[in-house]
Amino acid sequence: MSYKVLLADDDRNVLSALKLQLKISGFQSASASRPKEVLLALKESDFDLVLMDLNYQQDTTSGSEGLQLISDIRALDSSIPIVAMTGWGTIDIAVDAMRRGANDFIEKPCDNNRLNNILNNLLALRQSQLRTQRLESENALLRDESSTDGWVCKSKAMQSVMKIVENVAETDINILIRGENGTGKSQLAKLIHAQSARSKYSFIAVNMGAISEAIFESELFGHVKGSFTDAKSNRIGRFELADSGTLFMDEIANIPISQQQKLLRVLENGEFEKLGSSKSQHANVRLISATNAELDHLVELKQFRQDLYFRVNSIEIILPPLRDRQEDIEILARQFLEKHSIKYQREISDISSEAMESLRHYSWPGNVREMDHLIERAVLMSTDTQIQASDLLLKQEPSELLEPGGSNIDWTEFTLEQAEKKLIELVLRKHNGNAKEAATSLGYSRSAFYRRLEKFGL
Ligand SMILES: Nc1ncnc2c1ncn2[C@@H]1O[C@H](COP(=O)(O)OP(=O)(O)O)[C@@H](O)[C@H]1O
Ligand SMILES: [Mg+2]
Repeated sequence: MSYKVLLADDDRNVLSALKLQLKISGFQSASASRPKEVLLALKESDFDLVLMDLNYQQDTTSGSEGLQLISDIRALDSSIPIVAMTGWGTIDIAVDAMRRGANDFIEKPCDNNRLNNILNNLLALRQSQLRTQRLESENALLRDESSTDGWVCKSKAMQSVMKIVENVAETDINILIRGENGTGKSQLAKLIHAQSARSKYSFIAVNMGAISEAIFESELFGHVKGSFTDAKSNRIGRFELADSGTLFMDEIANIPISQQQKLLRVLENGEFEKLGSSKSQHANVRLISATNAELDHLVELKQFRQDLYFRVNSIEIILPPLRDRQEDIEILARQFLEKHSIKYQREISDISSEAMESLRHYSWPGNVREMDHLIERAVLMSTDTQIQASDLLLKQEPSELLEPGGSNIDWTEFTLEQAEKKLIELVLRKHNGNAKEAATSLGYSRSAFYRRLEKFGL
């Protein structure tokens, strides 16, 4: 990759000489002969460095136009390296240039070696600054992902949840968090751990949906070398890792019924054995579980042990779906906008009021996670400094398609019941509201048709 230098001088001869000099040293360049052109060039394309004269036509010795240009460049770009070219014996102006934000200066005519040195040093410095900056912003994101700040809970529904959390977080009580996908169950589990007396010990998460029955025991309790064919070395299980800390069991409804008894035992007295070992071990863990399933229903169906159910849900916290948290929507949207515009280095600072309105009216089947992804996509798609409604690509709700006059009906978006209702509406309209004709046309008996009208509120 070769660096691109923007050259600025009002003397065409100087420009062409410099251009050649830079080319020989392996730089690309573009040139401008007036301050205005310099600013325009910087706005229009990317340069790695500006090498500029201080004197331009109007006033050929004071350097005032050049000094003003340095300030103007800095206003556009706070970090691009600027090297000022000065006439002989104008050290005062050079100092002034540095004060305005130039990074270095060189006397004209430019000595080739000195020029190369200055450019290479500044460009190397710039690269390392950019790298550090990138790392810093990545780290900030990582920290954000795993930490608990940025937890949005302004809505009434979330406020009542947080009241419970406040009361139970510090204790050792086992908590079951329930809620639809993407409502923040995993995040809340971390937050509870962070607020507990165990916060300085580990938070260990294990996703029960991802653990097959065959490796269940080994994952949770560990194994000793040789305990089964693939056990090539000792393994520490999640209970041992979480000792003194918090164990977070995600998707707890997925624990195979055959393994539930083993889990129950360790939850009751903290005792377990590694697979292939007869030595009892003890783990002191606080358990937080999460599920999007109706566990009590699974208990009725005998797919989840009742005693285990009682054990894991000493307290049950239900996270409301995002559509019931209107006051949180805007805050979350702005937070995700900030996160993704940093991540993708886009300068998008706002969401149009129309776009915000459609976010408020959307039903969010995938909850907060869906919003995260949606805003990410919008940031990538946006060509503006503001997210527009059209960037959001919100799926239209079936209920919106049911509005009269909607001609392009996508029936595959409907449930059978919605389709039936829609069809009845259409046929009724066709027959100008004559129920008898509509019923005949649809093949319903009169009474069956009226039952449906009543059911659908038509
Ligand atoms: N109240 C909230 N405030 C801020 N971010 C949230 C909130 N709830 C969820 N998130 C974010 O939404 C995403 C999905 O949350 P997660 O905890 O994984 O949901 P679940 O475990 O319920 O599927 C995560 O990126 C999480 O940080
Ligand atoms: Mg989760």
